[in-house]
Amino acid sequence: MSVPPPLTLPGLAARKARGERLVMLTCYDALFARLLEAAGVDILLVGDSLNEVLAGRRSTLSATLDQMIYHAASVRRGVERTPVVVDLPFLSYQVSVEEAIRNAGRVMAETDCHAVKLEGGAAMVPTVAALVARGIPVLGHLGLMPQSVHATGGYRVQGRDGDAATQLLEDALALEAAGASALVLELVPRDLAARVTAALRIPTIGIGAGPGCDGQVLVLHDLLGLTEGFTPKFLRRYAELGPTVRDAVGRFAEDVRTGRYPDEEHSFT
Ligand code: KIV
Repeated sequence: MSVPPPLTLPGLAARKARGERLVMLTCYDALFARLLEAAGVDILLVGDSLNEVLAGRRSTLSATLDQMIYHAASVRRGVERTPVVVDLPFLSYQVSVEEAIRNAGRVMAETDCHAVKLEGGAAMVPTVAALVARGIPVLGHLGLMPQSVHATGGYRVQGRDGDAATQLLEDALALEAAGASALVLELVPRDLAARVTAALRIPTIGIGAGPGCDGQVLVLHDLLGLTEGFTPKFLRRYAELGPTVRDAVGRFAEDVRTGRYPDEEHSFT
């Protein structure tokens, strides 16, 4: 199957109108950014999930703006044409619209990335509108919002009851009206995600939101089988690199301990 031409943020709605599905993956460094661009991924997301995946924390809540900027700048150096979206971390955009502009502005200026993503519905509409008005493309994030995990009582499917589903649809429409370029829908029942997708002009990108979204995103390290023991229903692992890494490192350790490495071939005369 052929890979579509490189994407721009303003081109997202056109992709949806043409019925072309979007492929997004998280990425935290230049090395993987190069590989993902070569594989034809449409959008790279420097997710604040890096706080869990790379930094070993229990949630995304302690991710800092400096941490996000460091990783986003690394990812950006690894791509030539793929748009890179950067998560605004917890409390970098919720305190006031002014702080959100300053912090999102830092992300854009210091990383040269293409858009920011933030979590929240109606309460975030003025912030999204203010960022967009200042030339900062924004992706929204609804459904399970990891920065609110303590308010939702865990990582569970959202929008199951009628009121919550109506609220999610209204939030999605409000974010679109405020100028959001796309919406991530996380852990949402498939029928609700399909309904939201049909109601919007901008694309939805699902994670645990079923096949009715305009695109799909996964955490790269989950897809590659590096985050062993993490097995949510929505996840399909496309490789099992955890055992591969353990095996390679184990063989290296064995060779060093037994004197088999380095040998003649790997030594200088
Ligand atoms: O931080 C992240 O990786 C995300 C994805 C799960 C969408 O927001």
